[in-house]
Amino acid sequence: MVPAGGLGTRFLPATKALPKEMVPVGDRPAIQWGLEEAVASGIHRAVIVTAPGKDLIRAHFTPDPSLESLLSERGNQEMADRVRAIGHLLDLEFVEQLQPLGLGHAVLCAAPSLGTEEAVAVLLPDDLFSGSPPLLAQLLQAHTATRCTVLALRRCPRDQISRYGVATVEGDGPVFKVSDVVEKPAPEDAPSDLAIMGRYILTQDVFRALATTGPGALGEIQLTDAIRGAARSGQVVGVEFSGELLDVGTLDSWLATNAAVVWRDPELGPALRARVAELEAAGS
Ligand code: UTP
Repeated sequence: MVPAGGLGTRFLPATKALPKEMVPVGDRPAIQWGLEEAVASGIHRAVIVTAPGKDLIRAHFTPDPSLESLLSERGNQEMADRVRAIGHLLDLEFVEQLQPLGLGHAVLCAAPSLGTEEAVAVLLPDDLFSGSPPLLAQLLQAHTATRCTVLALRRCPRDQISRYGVATVEGDGPVFKVSDVVEKPAPEDAPSDLAIMGRYILTQDVFRALATTGPGALGEIQLTDAIRGAARSGQVVGVEFSGELLDVGTLDSWLATNAAVVWRDPELGPALRARVAELEAAGS
């Protein structure tokens, strides 16, 4: 499932009407990168949690035969094929979160559409993964081996750790046993430098815990609070993944992510590098 019901307040005013998940990174919206990662990880069905006023997300993934025909008639078959592929990327269901009560609440909103048997992959679309194998595939592999809830872990400098959930771990990694989790600790209280990033495999015991989790930090229903019980009973592992995770949740991070993605793109990169060289030469 893909939670996309938040307000995007850290990226205002750009996200006043435009959903944060729809900001472009290179040639496509951020959320499309996330869904492509899911498909590359072997996932063929997803539930996207949106919010009132965020209809653009559904519109982007809805097939548009008249646009496809127009592009074909104008001789742009390559773009017609790309537009068609977006509408058929995977089987999607949309659910509305009526109030932004937190990530845990968004996950709970999707629960009736997810069934009660299998573990569920959760992908936060404001974190883009770059690398191979896909991050969700790395987590799914750990889940297949352990049957546990799986967290994506990345080492984080102490002075930035209080932005994240942080794991208490045992073992040497890259797959750790996670014995506890804490949301946004002060640097001096952080149990490790392993921050929890925006990909999860959640087992059904976490969904059951979520259903009885009250509001925590910031008055929101925190996913971390629901994972804590499973961690304390030995049912959570964390993967210190290989590859890079790029954030688009703020103006600064979005700019940096676009620069990195476009810089490396064989088609778009040369034009960006030429423009940067021009600006440097002009001293502006
Ligand atoms: P964030 O905390 O980064 O998103 O949540 P936000 O709340 O939209 O952003 P700010 O903090 O106000 O700037 C990570 C993901 O979880 C979703 C967001 O849409 C984002 O994709 N989310 C967050 C929900 O679906 N519902 C919520 O209530 C909160």
